[in-house]
Amino acid sequence: MCGIVCYSGKNAAKDVILEGLERLEYRGYDSAGLSVIEKGKLFTAKRSGKLSNLKLALLDHPLEANIGIGHIRWATHGAPTDLNAHPHLSNDKNIALVHNGIIENFHELKEKLIKEGYHFTSSTDTEVIAVLLEKYYEGDLLEAVKKVRKILKGSYALGIIAQSEPDRLVCVRCESPLVMGLAGGDVLVASDIPSILKYTNKLIYLENGDLLDVKDGYQIYDIDDNKVDREIKEVSWSLEAASKEGFDHFMEKEIFEQPRAIEDCLRNKLVDGKIDLGDASFTKEELRNFNKVYIVACGTASYAGNIGKYAIEKFAQIPVVNELASEFRYNNHFIDEKTLLILVSQSGETADTLAALREGKRKKATTLVVTNVLASSIDREADKSVYCLAGPEIAVASTKAYTTQVMSLYILALDFALKLKKITEKEVEEILKEVSKLPGKIQEILDNTDPIKEFANEIKDASSVFYIGRGLDYYSVIEGALKLKEVSYIHSEALAAGELKHGTLALIEEGSPVIAVATQENIMDKTFSNIEEVRARGAKVFTICGENAEKLENVSYKSYKLPQTIDSLYPILAVIPEQLLAYYTSGAKGLDVDKPRNLAKSVTVE
Ligand code: AGP
Repeated sequence: MCGIVCYSGKNAAKDVILEGLERLEYRGYDSAGLSVIEKGKLFTAKRSGKLSNLKLALLDHPLEANIGIGHIRWATHGAPTDLNAHPHLSNDKNIALVHNGIIENFHELKEKLIKEGYHFTSSTDTEVIAVLLEKYYEGDLLEAVKKVRKILKGSYALGIIAQSEPDRLVCVRCESPLVMGLAGGDVLVASDIPSILKYTNKLIYLENGDLLDVKDGYQIYDIDDNKVDREIKEVSWSLEAASKEGFDHFMEKEIFEQPRAIEDCLRNKLVDGKIDLGDASFTKEELRNFNKVYIVACGTASYAGNIGKYAIEKFAQIPVVNELASEFRYNNHFIDEKTLLILVSQSGETADTLAALREGKRKKATTLVVTNVLASSIDREADKSVYCLAGPEIAVASTKAYTTQVMSLYILALDFALKLKKITEKEVEEILKEVSKLPGKIQEILDNTDPIKEFANEIKDASSVFYIGRGLDYYSVIEGALKLKEVSYIHSEALAAGELKHGTLALIEEGSPVIAVATQENIMDKTFSNIEEVRARGAKVFTICGENAEKLENVSYKSYKLPQTIDSLYPILAVIPEQLLAYYTSGAKGLDVDKPRNLAKSVTVE
């Protein structure tokens, strides 16, 4: 939810930290701040609002400092104000600290500290940690952190410096992600990779419970304070991959990256045209042992899970329950050692999905995650992992992660079906032949965006927009509606087309914009009548369709014909115009499409 950047090295800490925070703005951006130690003195500046406000405040502070911590915030405790912005300081102003996460027992800790004579200037949970460190500080910051972390309950990624130890940086990882970069003798620690890539691609993913002490080199301690060595990984993501590369926004870049993303996603799942999921695959016996499959995720990842449910049921003929992670904790009555629990998460850090993973493991389920971030928390804790390999997804609105999640789930379903002999190699070969054409077909859509731009201009001032579809098309419109509402703030609602006459048709009035997705041959006539139904009430229907375009064109205000593919693969194509419609509508409204209000890219709190 928030972003942390810490630095100790030979460069100017202020520049490294500010640039690093800029690359984390997608994680939350309602206030920002930094602390550095300059000539033995602790300097702190923090501002509410966007990062540019902090930069402005620092213009007349050159800050000759080589060690510091920075933070960009998405408020969870306390309004976004200068006072509540991080870093937070101990009462004696000796210790500065930045935090990502939630301290669940901060109220009782704060009350106790107040009784002991300490005072607080903010309403945050984070300040309690800074004051606790003062209380336990006896001249060694590392020792104080070891004591304090045993008192805290909740999730916390911390960056800590102290004026009394001007060449020391201490970081802690508990649940909230922290990744460390090694650049020669310099050490960078951040919430996510893009902040580090400019300086190094040599990374250490701190494990849950790790404590990092940076002073004349570095030493990592595990949750029991034992010295440990963590593997240094070299990532292939260049800085450019996390930059906009000439596009106006990350969302636009990531929509247009999807042909390549799908190719990369398939690259590590198909060998010589055959499915090979490596360590992520199950044997026939293991699959036979499962008597139920759950797919659990949040938001767009959950909507990709809808398609995964369809694919596993259709190809592998195994019943699947697709459950929202935030609801799963109340609806997981049948989880046991015969359950396969599939989690889907772009970031691999979503707290609700991580909680569902842990609940499933507690009940002895086998867990597999479909994720875009290697070494993320969910990746490391799941029994098996399937990687989307979409490259970093920075925009809050998920696009290429969705299509690569769907692609990954399709391949997984086909692998299950093959192992269980529910489908022949020949049938799979035919499907994979169509799959291999998808990147080119997505590119065809990306080369034909004008009709979508035009319709975006027509709906940008609408108060409500409705999406209708049946079967797989209904799953596509659920995702389409979320995309539009997320970045345009227009009330957008997905309606099961067959349900209109049972109530929702009352919402349709003269001029209501309706996006209909009609790609499934076997239910085309029914969707056709549903389009007639809403059109008869005055709706302005934009139909995204497969074959039979002529028939649908005649009953639509505008229609968009997708390149032809097999029915089961249309969701990967149908979502592209929906993504573009959301993006262009947001642009037409002059909104900040990459950082929509109230939302953050990775929801690491429950
Ligand atoms: C999608 O556009 C949203 N940003 C949101 O629904 C997101 O998909 C959800 O929070 C899950 O995130 P995850 O895939 O990183 O777990």
